[in-house]
Amino acid sequence: MISSGQVFMSPSILNANFDDLENEIAKVSSVSDFLHLDIMDNKFVPNFTFSMARASEIISFSKLPVDAHLMIEDPDNLGPKYAQFGCHSVTFHLEAVKDAKKTIENIKSNGSKVGIAIKPKTEFSAVADLVEHIDLLLIMTVEPGFGGQAFMQDQMSKVKIAREHIDKCSAPQPLLQVDGGISEYTIETAAQSGANCFVAGSAVFKSNDPAQMLIRLRQLALDKIKS
Ligand code: DX5
Ligand code: ZN
Repeated sequence: MISSGQVFMSPSILNANFDDLENEIAKVSSVSDFLHLDIMDNKFVPNFTFSMARASEIISFSKLPVDAHLMIEDPDNLGPKYAQFGCHSVTFHLEAVKDAKKTIENIKSNGSKVGIAIKPKTEFSAVADLVEHIDLLLIMTVEPGFGGQAFMQDQMSKVKIAREHIDKCSAPQPLLQVDGGISEYTIETAAQSGANCFVAGSAVFKSNDPAQMLIRLRQLALDKIKS
C-alpha cells in the first residue's frame, strides 16, 4: 500500500467531442494533473484516433501536461517524436516495442518522461526489470482500443504485485497508472490495490459535469489510499 496521500488524475479525451477539443480540455484543466492522449494507429489496435500532425496540435494547445499513451506498432521510432512534440510523458506498449531500453533512453533524451504499458494478458514479470528505468507503469484494465469498456477486476492482482515491486524501488518511484473502465464504481478497488494515477474517459466526458466527476473520483481514490 502506498503511504503518500497523493493521487494523479489523467482524463482521457477518447470519448470527448473531437470537434471541440479545446473546449473539452478546458472543462477539466483546473482539476486534473495530466491530459491522457490516446494515440491509436489502426494496426496495434483496431482503431485510429489522431494523425501525428493533429496530436502535435493538441499537445501544443493543451494547458495540461500531456500523458501520451501510444497504442501503435512502431514506438521505437515514433515514441521520441512525441517527446519532441512536448509531451510530459510518453508511454509505449511493451508488446509493441522492439528494444525497450533503447526506446526508454531515446524518449528521455528528447525531453519527456517515459512510461510502459502492459495489456491484460501480459504478466507483470515481463516488465519487472524495466520498472526502475521508467517514470510510469500503466496496467491496462481493458483491452486497449476503445473507450467505454467494462473494468477488468481480474487485473487487480497484477496491480498489487506491481505496487509491492515499486515500493521496493528507490525514489523517485514510477507512478502506477490504471486505464480502462475507471469510474466512481471501480476507482476505489484500483486505489486499494495500489494504483496512484487514474485514467478515466467516458466516466468523465459522458457525465454532466466533467470537472465535478474528476473531483469526486480523486476523493474516492484518496480516501482508499489513506485508509
Ligand atoms: C483504451 C484507452 C483508454 C480509454 C479509457 O484503449 O487507452 O485511455 O480512453 O476510456 P474509458 O475510461 O471509457 O474506459
Ligand atoms: Zn489510454
